Amino acid sequence: MENRLISIKNKAVEALLSIDQMTDLNNLKASFLGKKGEIAELMMGLKDLSNEEKPKVGKLINETKQVLEALFEEKKAQIEAKEIAIKLEKEAIDVTLPGIKKEIGTAHLLSQIVEDLEAFFIGLGYEVKEGPEIETDHYNFEMLNLEQGHPARAMQDSFYIDPNRLLRTHTSPVQARTMLQSEGKPIQIICPGKVYRRDDDDQTHSHQFMQVEGLVIGKDISMANLKGTLLAFIKHFFGKDREIRLRPSYFPFTEPSVEVDVFSEDGRWIEVLGAGMVHPNVLKMGGYNPDEVQGFAFGIGVERLGILKYAIDDIRQFYTNDLRFLKQFKGGR
Ligand code: DAH
Repeated sequence: MENRLISIKNKAVEALLSIDQMTDLNNLKASFLGKKGEIAELMMGLKDLSNEEKPKVGKLINETKQVLEALFEEKKAQIEAKEIAIKLEKEAIDVTLPGIKKEIGTAHLLSQIVEDLEAFFIGLGYEVKEGPEIETDHYNFEMLNLEQGHPARAMQDSFYIDPNRLLRTHTSPVQARTMLQSEGKPIQIICPGKVYRRDDDDQTHSHQFMQVEGLVIGKDISMANLKGTLLAFIKHFFGKDREIRLRPSYFPFTEPSVEVDVFSEDGRWIEVLGAGMVHPNVLKMGGYNPDEVQGFAFGIGVERLGILKYAIDDIRQFYTNDLRFLKQFKGGR
């Protein structure tokens, strides 16, 4: 019997050496110490022994059982320690590693320019208005003295949605909308926004661009007010005196009309806006009496301003979202 017990013990020691998983350990333990394990089997055999032998053999079996239990306990502790070590290693957070940097963007250059213009004109007492980008033929053209079939409509080849609605070709319809809302009271507004024309995109043309419309209506408003306002604005925007010139032009909604050019750094005159005295027909349609009040209006091309100020070589740069371009302008908000 003693030999049998020794061999069981050796078998257990050897088996324990070859495992390192808790489930294997549990299985192994069951095969030695479980209800149907080797030790239990030996205990069962006790009943066949004589009364004399029983206590002696029983004691031997019990001693072996205790040794085995101690061995299994020890192995269990080892496996647990190892599992904890592995877990710690896997889940470790190295607080000394650099974090993931979140890049903070900037306002788009066009937004920066518009915000600058808004700040300037608000300072002169203007209000900022908005109008819809899907506009009716009525407001985009008719209310601006461009009746059906007017040749100037063709200059603004348009995206029509149906015969009566189109993507606005300029921000000027906001003039008409504001006049109707203001019911004959004085007006001093700007309206920044996107406008659309059917154009083949190239270095200087984009089918979508931005304008800032301006409208001032009141008593004794003259061309001198318009010129003074524009000069002050150009000086503010470029941060120094730039030469500008007012060129006689034609817009159906102003009379007289001018185009304003700014002298560029490479020695060219570049058109940045159209302007003029609000046409009497436009005042009338808007509910104002042209014999009592006058007004001036202007429409600034936002991209043109940016191109001039920052010497940008291609209008498409504003719309292609190339970060190498955009990141050069970190001003704004
Ligand atoms: N709406 C014109 C355009 O898109 C620009 C313009 C010219 C606006 C003269 C005005 C203005 O308010 O008075 O080309």
